[in-house]
Amino acid sequence: MKVKIEKKSILDIDADLIIVNLFKGVKAPGGVTGIVDKAYKNIISDFVIKQEKFEGKYGSIYQLPLPKEGKRIFIAGLGEQKDFTYSKIRDLTAKIIRTCSLLKGVKKVVTILHGAGIGGMCPELCAQMITEGAISGTYAFDKYKTEKKDNNIKEFIIAETDNTKYKKAKQGVETGTVIAEAVNRARDLINESSQYLYPETLAKYAVENSGVKTTVYNKAQIKKMGMNAFLAVGQGSVHEPKFIHMEYKPEKKAKRKIAIVGKGITFDAGGLDLKPPSSMLTMRDDMSGAAAVICTMRAISELKPDVEVHALVAACENMPSGSAYKPGDVIIAKTGRSIEIDNTDAEGRVTLADALAYAEELNVDEIIDIATLTGACMVALGTVASGIMGNNEDKIKEFIKTADITGERYWQLPMFEEYGDTLKSDIADTKNTGGRMGGASAAGIFLSKFIKNTPWLHLDIAGTAFLDSANSEGIKGATGIGVRSLIKYITK
Ligand code: BES
Ligand code: MN
Ligand code: ZN
Repeated sequence: MKVKIEKKSILDIDADLIIVNLFKGVKAPGGVTGIVDKAYKNIISDFVIKQEKFEGKYGSIYQLPLPKEGKRIFIAGLGEQKDFTYSKIRDLTAKIIRTCSLLKGVKKVVTILHGAGIGGMCPELCAQMITEGAISGTYAFDKYKTEKKDNNIKEFIIAETDNTKYKKAKQGVETGTVIAEAVNRARDLINESSQYLYPETLAKYAVENSGVKTTVYNKAQIKKMGMNAFLAVGQGSVHEPKFIHMEYKPEKKAKRKIAIVGKGITFDAGGLDLKPPSSMLTMRDDMSGAAAVICTMRAISELKPDVEVHALVAACENMPSGSAYKPGDVIIAKTGRSIEIDNTDAEGRVTLADALAYAEELNVDEIIDIATLTGACMVALGTVASGIMGNNEDKIKEFIKTADITGERYWQLPMFEEYGDTLKSDIADTKNTGGRMGGASAAGIFLSKFIKNTPWLHLDIAGTAFLDSANSEGIKGATGIGVRSLIKYITK
């Protein structure tokens, strides 16, 4: 499905369905909703508002069928004007499009630019949100279903007659398309069966789809690079590990340099410390961080910011086998630090230790890692927010604020020194884990030991990357979390 914008009145576009809106409490609709109301003999003010008592509650959709004219009208409730946000535009549009896609005969839908009228919001961002909502709202992972869910809607059009608003909104549609497609790509990658998605195929995907220069290192090369910690995690699998380095360099001189590092465990069985069945079930999502950075790069290649970006993935599978790494093993990581393996299921941090060390050698201004790292983070924050930690308070705050605009929520977890006490080892510089209490923070402390002095942020998306049941946005399975906030943080 494509989102387009046309410089025409909503009434002059030949569509099957018109979408207008109402803020809560409005009795006499103004703007385009008012125009549509007049054109249809006050049906909105006299019938929908007065008689049917439609109040414009946020997220409510009044469906007005007009069979004679052959056009339907939906009136979307925007809620209180003072509470309206850009994210609400995205979520509302996703809801609208899901409702529309169930209606037979609705192929072409036209909408007004929610928020940019009496709402007074930026037309570019409003259009971007509508586009994101429309494209991600129709996402379905049905490649393995014989019967596909057919989306009837082929065209979703935004109507805007004002020239200035039209121009801005057109830009918003383009940006929104790039972002939403990046999110959907990430969701596809994460939802993919680990049967087909393993380090080699993930690397191939990055080469073909990241949109930027991509170098893939094989096992022998990884060994030469001194990444023994990463190799140890992958050694129990029949699939060879791959280290993926994607790089984007702007044409102009880069304003800053960033490295983004995604955890890329294509399947986490737990290793010899095998997970119980219920915990293992969705562990194909353990490369959600990798998917986020690969798909963010694709968007970066299209949005072309003046920022140099490196995306890194240490991709491997964590399996139990005769060749698997074992509890009690001591491994020398790339930085020279020794790690005692306390639990083979705390593998993500072991791979990240080497990936972060590699990132720091790139002399970037900041490093951000994104990882489905700890069940403890999921227990603490549920599926509602992701955890954030790091060694730079200003950047943590800035990331949280930037992400919030994109509708992604991050919550800072503490990195008090004492959380590191459980990691003390009798035989090595550190253990990889020391128990379940305060597990998200302990993992954060572990990672921090592999960063010398580069500003660094760590995003724990264990709870938010994959949903067993649909959330309020109607999203189930892979969410593509991280993509929107990383793009925004890099392009800001
Ligand atoms: N991939 C898991 C974390 C995870 C849990 C992601 C649930 C998504 C949903 C990670 O590798 C892991 O197994 N962590 C262990 C660490 C423990 C052994 C210290 C955990 O959180 O249980
Ligand atoms: Mn694990
Ligand atoms: Zn894992």
